[in-house]
Amino acid sequence: MTNSDVLYFNGRFTTTAERVIGVEDRGFQFGDGIYDVVKFLSSRTIFAREHYARMNEGLRELEIDNPWSEAGFLRLCGDVLERTAFGDGILYAQVTRGESQRAHFYPDGMTPTSLVYSRSFAFPDARQKEIGIRTVTAEDQRWKRCCVKSINLLANALAKKKAQRAGAAEALLVADGQVREGATSSFFAVLNGRLVTYPTDPEILPGVVRNHVIGLALSEKIRVDERPVREDELYNLEEAFITSTTQGVMPVTEIDDRVIGNSRRGEITELLQRLYDALERSVSE
Ligand code: PDD
Repeated sequence: MTNSDVLYFNGRFTTTAERVIGVEDRGFQFGDGIYDVVKFLSSRTIFAREHYARMNEGLRELEIDNPWSEAGFLRLCGDVLERTAFGDGILYAQVTRGESQRAHFYPDGMTPTSLVYSRSFAFPDARQKEIGIRTVTAEDQRWKRCCVKSINLLANALAKKKAQRAGAAEALLVADGQVREGATSSFFAVLNGRLVTYPTDPEILPGVVRNHVIGLALSEKIRVDERPVREDELYNLEEAFITSTTQGVMPVTEIDDRVIGNSRRGEITELLQRLYDALERSVSE
């Protein structure tokens, strides 16, 4: 299967070239499901257990049966990667409530649709990690349970498109005068030498990278305030960065055309970026 990605779908292996989803799958019609994204390097998954735990929690919240035990999910990731021709990329995992005749009130005891597939991915290179990204702010129009990594991503997609049209790589989602997170990332600011990031409330996704970066900061004796960054603080930050599975620690050098920290990667950002990259290289699962 040279250059081919591999798709595991409801118990069998194929490739993403095959059309597999039924039109009445509730994921397709209602966005009724959960997903997660796991990075792999040299065919080795990074923090797969943590992604599994988040998926498990989301499925529990939505009352969808988890088709996988933790061990079963890790084994499946390994099986997909063994069949995948490339060593670096992402695994996309999704579980929906399943397929049934369209009705808002779903039947009890449905059989979930489950899939995992591999994709090659262009992770940021050294230059991109140094120059960082431009961002814009956008109103957070999402629902009230953003801690669940639901496949309902319409508000995220619209915000992301707004960013792209403005020549930016990420939209920072704002509500009630507070920055919550990026459309596809967690958001960190440096203020008075301290790291500031939104607390793990239902309004944000508990980012796997976010969690590790907080740990790394604390181990470096950097104070971390888990509280919202106010909009009025936004343009006077010493440093800012986003974190995500695909971007790692990515400096933010502009917010709404306003330059952050002399438009250069900040010192704390660089330190955490270095430590996080080293952590990724050193872990297994
Ligand atoms: N997005 N917040 C949101 C809204 C996200 O979609 C993501 C990740 C994160 C960062 O989470 P983590 O550090 O666990 O990747 C925060 C993934 C990568 C995606 O949708 O592609």
